[in-house]
Amino acid sequence: MKTRILIVDDEPSASDYLRLLLEQEGYDVRATANGVEALIALETNRFEMVISDIRMPQMDGLELLTHLKQRWPDLPVIVLTANEGIEDIVQAIHLGALNYLVKPSSPAVVSESVKKALRVRPGSGVAPPVVSELVGESPAIVDVRHRVVMAARSDVHVIITGDTGTGKELVSRAIHAYSALVEGPFVAHNCALSPPELFESEFFGHRRGSFTGAERDHRGLLSEADGGVLFLDELETMLPAHQAKMLRVIDDGEVRAVGSEKSRRVSVRFLAATNRDPHTMIEERTLREDLYYRLRGIEISLPTLSQRLEDIPLLAHHFAGEDTAGFTSDALDTLVKADWPGNVRQLRNVVQGAKAAAGDGKIGAGHLSLQASSWVSRAASEGATASGLPRGMTLRELERRAIKQALEDCDGNRTRAANMLDIDRSTLRRKMIEFEIT
Ligand SMILES: Nc1ncnc2c1ncn2[C@@H]1O[C@H](COP(=O)(O)OP(=O)(O)OP(=O)(O)O)[C@@H](O)[C@H]1O
Ligand SMILES: [Mg+2]
Repeated sequence: MKTRILIVDDEPSASDYLRLLLEQEGYDVRATANGVEALIALETNRFEMVISDIRMPQMDGLELLTHLKQRWPDLPVIVLTANEGIEDIVQAIHLGALNYLVKPSSPAVVSESVKKALRVRPGSGVAPPVVSELVGESPAIVDVRHRVVMAARSDVHVIITGDTGTGKELVSRAIHAYSALVEGPFVAHNCALSPPELFESEFFGHRRGSFTGAERDHRGLLSEADGGVLFLDELETMLPAHQAKMLRVIDDGEVRAVGSEKSRRVSVRFLAATNRDPHTMIEERTLREDLYYRLRGIEISLPTLSQRLEDIPLLAHHFAGEDTAGFTSDALDTLVKADWPGNVRQLRNVVQGAKAAAGDGKIGAGHLSLQASSWVSRAASEGATASGLPRGMTLRELERRAIKQALEDCDGNRTRAANMLDIDRSTLRRKMIEFEIT
């Protein structure tokens, strides 16, 4: 992958000169015209180095340098000067710039300083943020990327809200990946999938023999996540009594396994996700207010797809992958106009299905099976199956198929599948055993 360099200069001729020169040297170069633009570029992209002018309107090079050194202390910076005087250069070096270039410098001098600066870069350095997994250029998703970077750079707990399929899990993994805890574990737990009676044992662990069926020691999620992140998915399904216990752990880090005399201390960062509005849940008393405020060091709300229609073509290309002939404009138009109750996940499924249908050719509107998509509203899908059933199917087989389909549509998430089927989770579990669905 090419080394990426960010140039900051309000003078187009100067920045063009550098850009062309460095591009010839094989770098991937991006130019911005002032400090503010540069900071935005850095929040959303990975750069290995910054070359910045000192005298600029808005935010000057020295101020920019101060910000850079706070947020990305290891990012090498070279400053540019047009002879303004030694004071600025001294101050820049003092603030952490590695070197300076006098404008205009010869290609050989530029090339040599850049190479040197890149070598100096400490290996231990915090990598500049990428967050390129989160595709989209809409203001809403750019804001999400900023928050992800902010969250990754801090150590507070995070609550992530958003409808189904909007990217909550993706965001939580990105926060971990760009945080100082990246070497530590990322433990994901879906609160909806575990029976309440196992809460203690699942979170705190248990000692062998502490209850019937406890055949060996079990560490528990909190110990597993020690030194890393515990991702609590579908937080809305955790019982308030259990929420109180979580709150205590968040505050004191003390974990005592079921059947154990001793407690131990863990250090865990919590990232929690929910597809419901926390304030509504607090009113309903299904979410404890104290837990909510403890978790929302940073809150990240993900936009629905319909709130960022302009990202649909980008996402569609992303999911179609590199080896694709692309979309017809009709197809893109259809995608932008469709309803997306299942958000990005649904779009991904539709695009992947269409790609398979299109083979080597372009994906056309006819390849998009929006109706048969797993995510059409329940009323619509009932209408669709009523006439489409094969003859002679038994009720039992029908039931088995409905359950399988619902589980597939929900990526194996039993709570949502149960909701979709309008049965409770224990019924679903029983039927899965009965029909041998795994
Ligand atoms: N901005 C995005 N760019 C690229 N892919 C995305 C984006 N947002 C979501 N996805 C993809 O969409 C799918 C669903 O995302 P994810 O599982 O994170 O959603 P979720 O909010 O956790 O949904 P649920 O509430 O149903 O669990 C994943 O394949 C994810 O990679
Ligand atoms: Mg999820």
